[in-house]
Amino acid sequence: MSKVIFFECSKCGEKIAAGKPATVCPKDGGVLYARYDLAVIKKTFTPAALVGRRSDLWRYAKVLPDAEPVSLGEGFTPMLASREYRNVYVKDEGLNPTGSFKARGLCLAVTMAKAYGIKKVAVPSAGNAASALAAYAAAAGIEAHIFMPRDVPRANLVECQSYGAKVTLVDGLISDCARMVSERKQAEGWFDISTLKEPFRVEGKKTMGYEVAEQLGWKLPDAIIYPTGGGVGLIGMWKAFEEMEALGWIGAERPKMIVVQSSGCAPIIKAFDEHKNNAEAWANADTLAAGLRVPKPYGDYIILDILKKSRGTAVAASDAEIFEAVQHWARIEGVFAAPEGAASLVAYQKLRAGNFLGETDVTVLFNTGSGLKYIDVIADAAKKSATPQPAARNIGGIIGPY
Ligand SMILES: Cc1ncc(COP(=O)(O)O)c(C=O)c1O
Ligand SMILES: [Zn+2]
Repeated sequence: MSKVIFFECSKCGEKIAAGKPATVCPKDGGVLYARYDLAVIKKTFTPAALVGRRSDLWRYAKVLPDAEPVSLGEGFTPMLASREYRNVYVKDEGLNPTGSFKARGLCLAVTMAKAYGIKKVAVPSAGNAASALAAYAAAAGIEAHIFMPRDVPRANLVECQSYGAKVTLVDGLISDCARMVSERKQAEGWFDISTLKEPFRVEGKKTMGYEVAEQLGWKLPDAIIYPTGGGVGLIGMWKAFEEMEALGWIGAERPKMIVVQSSGCAPIIKAFDEHKNNAEAWANADTLAAGLRVPKPYGDYIILDILKKSRGTAVAASDAEIFEAVQHWARIEGVFAAPEGAASLVAYQKLRAGNFLGETDVTVLFNTGSGLKYIDVIADAAKKSATPQPAARNIGGIIGPY
């Protein structure tokens, strides 16, 4: 592991001393990045040095902060070659602890909270970040305070309660949950680990970028499709590519970074289409893909900048398309994806149809979570769907779909 030499503001470039818990830039609220001395790290850390290392995200410990890991076996998830499309890979993040890629970010955030001696943390969440926080906080012996929309997928609530977290269900969206955390944190003594309000969730998520490169033989794909709520995964992967270039592992080439959102909550798509640098809050956000129901991502300006720099794009998927994609992936690939993850397939199909992507473009589709976390949501959508479900036969019991 390596020492964080300072935190750097993504807006004004201000350098902030490391060594104590950091939040956002005190001048302008900009997202802070952890910086390491990559020139020194480069001398011993090479792709060859990874051979034989542990097969979780801590294999990249040299570019992660110096602390005793609170680990549950996160990361190094499978990169599956698609059975349907040539040159397409499904990066299956559903195999992480607590069934989603959120494990990566919360693993690092909790590891650092423990290293700093923090006793209580709080998070607003669409669901999966809450489950991941609850698990890592339990493993670290830290108190977790969780604020989720009341209509969160059931698994997330049951998991959080099982891990012993203190859960508040809110009549509203993640933005309302965020407001509550922010209003109460000072009086309650909670450290706020909301998306992009501290620098280490990005550090955990960036390991997806290192993995994509390593699993494709240190050659970056032509495109990456990423289901975007707060955008931490996209931002983290972009940071990883910059670090890998500084380490001399790759050149200046970058994949086209492609955002997929739900048509029921698409602030980034709207801002991208209107050539804006910031997103407006999306009114009446509504989608079955709970993790994509983020009306105004805090790091909107970074996401939009990455889309521009990478010559990427932003695509919408409707709930009906997302549901069809969940079923299709399960049946064709054997991957039971979270609705957010299945949205990647919808985006890929649209971009192929519109010739933004071609058959020879190596494309990584992120399945960010397991469908097992959404049994209630998917069963509900199946009832409303036009696609008939195969009947289940149950001797002496009920016969019918699900
Ligand atoms: C399964 C899943 N996919 C994607 C997202 C969006 O992630 P991010 O907020 O990092 O963009 C979430 C967020 O909750 C999620 O749970
Ligand atoms: Zn700043």
